[in-house]
Amino acid sequence: MTQLSVAEVDKKYNVRPFVEAPPSKSGLVPIELESVDLSLFKEGIEHLPARQALAKKLEKSLSTYGFISIINHGIDTEEFENLKAVAQSILELPVEVQKDYLAGTWKSDLEDRSISLGAERGPGFKPKGYWSMKNGVEDSIIHYNFTKMLHPAFFDSKVPEVAQAHLKEIADYYRYIHNEILRKLTILCDIILEIPEGFLWENYYKVIEGDYENSGQGAGRFMLYHNMNSEDEAKVDGNWLRGHSDSGGFTFITSQPILSLQIRDYFTGMWKYVGHTPNSFIVNIADGMEFITGGYFKSSIHRVVSPPDDQKNYRRLVLIYFSTPKTSCRVDPEPLNSPKLKRLGFVKPDEWDKITFGQWYEEKARLFGKKNVNDSKGDEPNLVLLYGRLHERWHQAEANFTIQEARKRFKVIEL
Ligand SMILES: [Fe+2]
Repeated sequence: MTQLSVAEVDKKYNVRPFVEAPPSKSGLVPIELESVDLSLFKEGIEHLPARQALAKKLEKSLSTYGFISIINHGIDTEEFENLKAVAQSILELPVEVQKDYLAGTWKSDLEDRSISLGAERGPGFKPKGYWSMKNGVEDSIIHYNFTKMLHPAFFDSKVPEVAQAHLKEIADYYRYIHNEILRKLTILCDIILEIPEGFLWENYYKVIEGDYENSGQGAGRFMLYHNMNSEDEAKVDGNWLRGHSDSGGFTFITSQPILSLQIRDYFTGMWKYVGHTPNSFIVNIADGMEFITGGYFKSSIHRVVSPPDDQKNYRRLVLIYFSTPKTSCRVDPEPLNSPKLKRLGFVKPDEWDKITFGQWYEEKARLFGKKNVNDSKGDEPNLVLLYGRLHERWHQAEANFTIQEARKRFKVIEL
C-alpha cells in the first residue's frame, strides 16, 4: 500500500479549522483567574527578582482556588489552530474506526477495574456514552488519550491514520508543555516553597528517556463535548461532568470561549465559571501536588456544565495535558523539607500513610464511576478514605474539617 502524504490524509479526513463558539452575551460573570505572563520568566541569577515577582503573584491562587491562567507561554495561535483541526478530525472518526483504538471497553460498567485502567486512563478513544450519569442518561463526551508522549516509544503507538500523520506535532506540543511550561511553573513553586530552584523538577517531574518509573509523566487528551438534548439535560440538572479533583500534578487545559467549566469557590463553596483568554492555558493543581505540599496547594473541585443558550449549538473542544509526578515519588511534604511549609504548619498529618504517587494514582482510578461513591444527594459524592486521605477534598477552606469531622457529617467509605 502506498503511503498517503500528510496533505492527502488531511483531505481524506476533512482536516479543517475548528469553529469556536462566539462569546456569550448571557451576562454570566466568570471568575478572574490570576494570570501568569510566562514571557517574564527568564533563567539566570540576574533575573531572580522577576521570577520572585511571578511566584508572589501565583502563591495566593495556588493555595486557595488551585487555578491560574498562563499566557505568553511560547505556543502560538497557528500551532493551537493546527492541533485543534487534527483533534476535531480524530474525534469525528466513526465508531467503526474507534472500535480498533478503544482506551477501555464501550461502557464504564463493563470495565473490570481490577485489571484495566478504564477509558479515563488508557490510550485511545473513550466513546460517547461510556459513562452512565443520573436517571439513565449517558454522557455526550468523546475523548482520545495519548500516553508515553514524553518518550521515544510514543512513535510506536498504534493510532488512527489521521493521528499518525500528525504524531510529531502532537508529541512536540505535549513535550513543550512538560519540558518548558511545566518546568518553569515548578521553579516558581520552588520559590514559593523556599526550596532550591529546580528541586521539584529534578525530583518529581524531570524525564529520563525510557525510564517510566523515575520520570515525570503526562497524558494528553483531545476532548470534544457535544451538546446534550434538552430532555437528557434536565435529567442530569445540566451537569455534564460532575465535580471532581484531578489525581496528578498540574493539569493544563486550552482556554476556549464556551462558558462551561466551573470551579468550586474555595472561600464560599459556590460554583463559578472560568472565563476565556485566547491562546492561554487554564492550569489547575491536582491531588499529587496538594499532598506533596502537605495541603498548602489546593487540588480544587471543578466540573463541566451545560453552556448558556447562545452557545448551546456549538461544540466544545479542549486539548488537555495531565502532568503527573514520577510514580516512585512520595506524596507528602517530608522530602521537600520546605521552611515555608514548616512555618505555615503544612506538615504531614499523622493519619497520612507514607505512599508513593503511583499508589495514589492507581487506587483513585478504581473509584471512577463507582455507584456507591457517586450515589449521593447533591453535588458532593460520598467521601472515600484512601491511605488516610479523602479522595476529594470538598472542605479545604474549613480549618477544622478533620477526618473525624467528615465521619460525623458525611458517609465516609473506608477502603
Ligand atoms: Fe478534571
